[in-house]
Amino acid sequence: ATTLGAAAAAQGRVFAAAVEGNRLGTTPYTTVFDREFAGTTPGNEMKWDTTEPSRGSFNFAPADAIVSHAQSHSMKIRGHTLVWYSQLPGWVSNISSGSDLLQAMNNHVTTEVTHFQGKIWYWDVVNEAFNEDGTRRSNPFQNLIGNAYIEDAFRAARAADPNAKLCINDYNIEGQNAKSNAVYALVQDFKSRGVPIDCVGFQAHLIVGQVPSDFQANLQRFANLGVDVQITELDIRMPTPASSANLQQQATDYSRVVTACLAVSRCNDITVWGVGDADSWIPGFFPGQGAALLFDDNYNPKLAYNAVLQVL
Ligand code: XIL
Repeated sequence: ATTLGAAAAAQGRVFAAAVEGNRLGTTPYTTVFDREFAGTTPGNEMKWDTTEPSRGSFNFAPADAIVSHAQSHSMKIRGHTLVWYSQLPGWVSNISSGSDLLQAMNNHVTTEVTHFQGKIWYWDVVNEAFNEDGTRRSNPFQNLIGNAYIEDAFRAARAADPNAKLCINDYNIEGQNAKSNAVYALVQDFKSRGVPIDCVGFQAHLIVGQVPSDFQANLQRFANLGVDVQITELDIRMPTPASSANLQQQATDYSRVVTACLAVSRCNDITVWGVGDADSWIPGFFPGQGAALLFDDNYNPKLAYNAVLQVL
């Protein structure tokens, strides 16, 4: 096959990219996006600060535009994300009672999932709920509602669109460690109590030369619990300007990640977090780092692109 999307489809997987509404329509960004990818995740447009900027007033127009573009290109769409501490509007953080916040959260989840009902393949219901040591991350939901906020969100999402698969999504859970053990325990607990959960999303914001050696084994142990596993926000960053040695290492790293996913039958999606280096979030959040994606600043394919195509 000659594109990432087609090559992955031949293996029964989706190869996708995060997209930004304000770049859709620009070239060469859109040309490469439409040509190479069989799925997408809106990078920001389904987050709470965009979709419900003030209580009870919803704005789905930016996400709708992406959904319509994706549908017209037969792309699978991951919904990202319903409940997260970041990109959360101030009115949510200012709620002072647990029962009021629970009502606001349930209403947000129900309204958003209902709006996109039938159009979303997998939802990231809860994003980044854990600390590195495996304890729950402090956020308004955790602090006011308590541990149960996660299952409450999953139940509300299931009720609103019974056909959408539901994921918990996090970073630094690619290898076996305290944080991934905590997510593992949550999935085990949900499965044993009948709380709806279908998937774990492994963000995979990785550093060049540091793909965890147990990535495949870790994906497999989650799959063995009876959930799908997806690589949801893949990028592999390095100091910029990029050295040729690092770009070569990055190609090896990308092929390791893809190979790990292909070895696990329940790993059905690999989403890179952006189309090319020029639109990546990395330089803005990790100063001095970048060059993390498969296409360069001019949207030409990098060594990593060829390496991925080769192992697909
Ligand atoms: C990032 C977006 O790419 C940026 O445009 C935005 O400014 C911040 O968020 N983990 C996630 C994603 O789950 O939602 C984040 O996306 C990257 C880290």
